[in-house]
Amino acid sequence: AAAQSQAEHRKAVQQPAHRRRRGWETRWRRNTERNTGRNGRVFGHVNKASARRPESAILAPWRPALRPVRQKERSFHMAIQTILKMGDPRLLRVSRPVTVFGSSDLHALVADMQDSMRAANGAGIAAPQIGVDLQVVIFGSNDANPRYPDRPVIPPTVLINPVVTPLGSEQENDWEGCLSVPGMRGLVPRWQRVRYQGFGIEGEPIDRSVEGFHARVVQHECDHLAGVLYPMRMQDLSQFGFNEVLFPGLARDADE
Ligand code: NI
Repeated sequence: AAAQSQAEHRKAVQQPAHRRRRGWETRWRRNTERNTGRNGRVFGHVNKASARRPESAILAPWRPALRPVRQKERSFHMAIQTILKMGDPRLLRVSRPVTVFGSSDLHALVADMQDSMRAANGAGIAAPQIGVDLQVVIFGSNDANPRYPDRPVIPPTVLINPVVTPLGSEQENDWEGCLSVPGMRGLVPRWQRVRYQGFGIEGEPIDRSVEGFHARVVQHECDHLAGVLYPMRMQDLSQFGFNEVLFPGLARDADE
C-alpha cells in the first residue's frame, strides 16, 4: 500500500466532470427561476439577451458560439435616459463634433435619444440633454406630435455636426417648450428660414433649406450643442411662464 502520488490524490478528490457541470447548471437554473414569472417574463437583474437565448444555449451556455451575436443585441437596445433639466451645468457645455460615423456607439447614442424623446413626447432632442457632449440632434417623426398636434409633420432626422445658416433677415416669434425646461413655454424669436447642413448617422451629407416650424425646431436643437437654452434667446421674459397658466384650455402635458 504505497502512498498515493500527488496526481492520483488530486484525481480522487476532484469531482467528476458531469457533477461539476450539474452544480453549475443547478445554480443557473435556481437563479433563473427566481427571476422568472409564471408566463416566462424575466424580472430582476437577469438581462434580456440571456432570457432570449435559444434552448440549446440554455443547455450549453459555456459554448461561446451559441451566445447572441452583437447585431442581435442591438435590437434589444432600449434605454430611456434621464433628461437633464435647466440648471445642470452639462446643458451649458459646447459639444464636440463626431469624428467616427456608423459606429455601434453612435447607433446606441441615437437609439437612447430616440427612446428618451418618444417617452417624453418631444419634438426633438439633443445629445447634451442626456448628458453626452457630442454634436448630435434628432427631431421630427412620422406622426403628429401630441405636444404640437396642429404643427406640420417634420421627417424623422438624425443630424450630426450641424451648421445652421439663416436665409434672409426675417425673424418670427413663436411659443417654444423644451424637455429640459419642463412644464414651461416661452415666446422665442427665430430666423424664419434657414439652411442646415450636416451628416446622417452613417456620414451621409444632409443639406436642407426649411422655414417656419421646421426651421424653429432645428434652431432650437442646434442651440443645445452650443450650450444655449431657449430662455437665453428670449427678448421679453414677461412672455415666459407655466403651460397650464399660459394655455389653460390645452390638454395638460403629462410628460412635461
Ligand atoms: Ni430643448
